[in-house]
Amino acid sequence: MPESESELLSRLHVHGAVPRHIAIIMDGNGRWARERHMPRPFGHRSGMKAVRAVVEGCLEAGVEWLSLFAFSEENWQRPETEVSALMSLLEEYIAREAEELRTQGVRVQVYGSLERLNAPAAAAVDQVMRATAGGTKLGLNLFISYGGRAELVRAAQLLAADVQAGAIAPDAIDEAAFRAKLFTAECPDPDLLIRTSGERRLSNFLLWQVAYAELYISAVLWPDFGRAALYEAILDFQGRDRRFGRVSA
Ligand code: FPP
Repeated sequence: MPESESELLSRLHVHGAVPRHIAIIMDGNGRWARERHMPRPFGHRSGMKAVRAVVEGCLEAGVEWLSLFAFSEENWQRPETEVSALMSLLEEYIAREAEELRTQGVRVQVYGSLERLNAPAAAAVDQVMRATAGGTKLGLNLFISYGGRAELVRAAQLLAADVQAGAIAPDAIDEAAFRAKLFTAECPDPDLLIRTSGERRLSNFLLWQVAYAELYISAVLWPDFGRAALYEAILDFQGRDRRFGRVSA
């Protein structure tokens, strides 16, 4: 019999330190739907339920930050019906969950090229960020219309503007100055990057931030990725020897 969620949770608390920040590339919604002879948006809808399970799992495990790749810049090239289904799901997720997230102490931030969102989706994003701004238990970063290279270009533009304004000299630009211009400036880099559905790519997600993240590839398709799968990933992380380029202690 598979280990229960509560057994896994108590094991990971005994086992060692929980990652402060987990990033997830949620993949496999389309395949999950196809296996059931259903249209792709059905997979995304089921994926939304997995988001809830993983947020709750992070709260219970004591993770401080969760970054989810919900929609990439490249995803705009998907068929119009799928893009609009994903946008509607985003609005639905916010309408359904904002109040619950607020009471759970979750603080939602949404990052990406948000000017490309339609008006109702942009309004929903604004609303959830305002409603949850006081949350102190878990920072939930949703990456929508996001690309890692575009984020780096944006950071370079912001720094160039500071140089032009005389606020900083070019040779004073160091890693700390660069990282301060990233969307994630206020949170630590992810300790653990999870990708579901067996794919082994970064897909342009958080390119700067995952420099020293431990990678965990799960074969599970995203809609089936719940608390138990999250705890298994954390337990695996706890067995890693993180050296950051140094030798073992
Ligand atoms: C990748 O699966 C998943 C996405 C492109 C969308 C992720 C969206 C959700 C999990 C639901 C909404 C989330 C929020 C936060 C509201 P895929 O379609 O690429 O799957 P495939 O590789 O099997 O085709």
